Amino acid sequence: AIIRELGGIPIVGNKMNSPNHSIKEKALNALNNLSVNVENQIMIRIYISQVCEDVFSGPLNSAVQLAGLRLLTNMTVTNDHQHLLDSYITDLFHVLLTGNGSTKVQVLKLLLNLSENPAMTEGLLGAQVDSSFLSLYDGHVAKEILLRVLTLFQNINNCVKTEDHLAIQPTFTKGSLFFLLYGEECAQKIRALASHHDADVKEKVVAIIPKF
Ligand SMILES: *[C@@H]1O[C@H](CO)[C@@H](O)[C@H](O)[C@H]1NC(C)=O
Ligand SMILES: *[C@@H]1O[C@H](CO)[C@@H](O)[C@H](O)[C@H]1NC(C)=O
Ligand SMILES: *[C@@H]1O[C@H](CO)[C@@H](O)[C@H](O)[C@H]1NC(C)=O
Ligand SMILES: *[C@@H]1O[C@H](CO)[C@@H](O)[C@H](O)[C@H]1NC(C)=O
Ligand SMILES: *[C@@H]1O[C@H](CO)[C@@H](O)[C@H](O)[C@H]1NC(C)=O
Repeated sequence: AIIRELGGIPIVGNKMNSPNHSIKEKALNALNNLSVNVENQIMIRIYISQVCEDVFSGPLNSAVQLAGLRLLTNMTVTNDHQHLLDSYITDLFHVLLTGNGSTKVQVLKLLLNLSENPAMTEGLLGAQVDSSFLSLYDGHVAKEILLRVLTLFQNINNCVKTEDHLAIQPTFTKGSLFFLLYGEECAQKIRALASHHDADVKEKVVAIIPKF
């Protein structure tokens, strides 16, 4: 709060323009620390589109990308600023599918926050997502990723149920997340996970499976 009152947030925010990646990364980390304060978040939100540009145009798995994803995750802990990510959802899924393990986990934390918000459901389900997304539901996928993609599905299901979003099904195009999640291939994969060796995975699957 003191840093904000002394006008520090724009000073830190402008450091994101630095061509030096090390400085950019530290600016993102400092904004992330500042973002624990809700009033700071109101000032930090003006940087969200720039952070997204850095995250989605910068090198995959880079320190800047991860720092940016962490900041975006902490800016979406409440529902207040989530809509600022509306136009970047397809990019998020692209980084999810191409990034390495650390990147995947960080993108999933962000997507999980969005998936709990019914106002984001239509945007998530309408995102164009490569069909390789379904391979994240394979039995051999790392538990920290598998549990999160299952929770993602569970959260979206819950929102669909409460909001009756299935009524708008015809508006989703082929190639959208909707068609992947509610297609036969995904149903088969999730049924197969019911006999997974890990108890937590099994438990999660049992919670989702009545949907099929
Ligand atoms: C970037 O900034 C850091 C920290 O000031 C410095 O150590 C490093 O040499 C700089 N890198 C380049 C390429 O200028
Ligand atoms: C952010 O906060 C952590 C924990 O308090 C601290 O270790 C770190 O140095 C801070 N980073 C920046 C860039 O301020
Ligand atoms: C970001 O959010 C996570 C999860 O809520 C929390 O553990 C972490 O301390 C936050 N990071 C900062 C720098 O506030
Ligand atoms: C992902 O890539 C980054 C940068 O190359 C590396 O530091 C990190 O250890 C990698 N993480 C995993 C889980 O492979
Ligand atoms: C976002 O995720 C964090 C943990 O990563 C959690 O503490 C927080 O409650 C979530 N917020 C929402 C709105 O889902």
